[in-house]
Amino acid sequence: MKKFLVFGILALAVVSCGKTKETVEVTPTNLSEKEQQLALGKKIFDGKGACASCHLPERKAIGPSIKEIAEIYRAQNGDMKAFLLEKAEPIVDPTQYVTMKTNFVITKRLPENELEAVIAYMESF
Ligand code: HEC
Repeated sequence: MKKFLVFGILALAVVSCGKTKETVEVTPTNLSEKEQQLALGKKIFDGKGACASCHLPERKAIGPSIKEIAEIYRAQNGDMKAFLLEKAEPIVDPTQYVTMKTNFVITKRLPENELEAVIAYMESF
């Protein structure tokens, strides 16, 4: 009888240990690939890309809102990557294109994965 009790406690310990380990693995830093890309995109958009100084999420500032840009690109099936590499014409607000053009020095120099992250971030709106 005593033997069973010891075994029972051991088994319980093993099971609960396994459970603790599981919860430790599911931490907020354990983001999916897509979430990581969006986080990187936001970091560049707000940081070294300096895009946030003209583009707010929902409201027009110096440039159109991210939401407006995303909606127009979706509706017209636009190629944002081509635009940011200066290989496609503006489709959102061509009258203000000169202002946006100054940023191509930045966007053209971004590593491929960072440019794609910025685009994914904008498209998520
Ligand atoms: C100095 C202000 C300013 C900054 C900084 C800026 N933009 Fe813009 N952006 C604009 C303006 C104004 C427009 C509207 C003109 C246009 O549509 O090209 C625009 C338009 C756009 C468009 C829509 C283009 C289209 O098809 O019409 C995209 C995409 C965009 N910006 C991305 C970015 C990204 C990414 C960054 C950061 C690397 C950035 N912008 C930084 C002012 C800015």
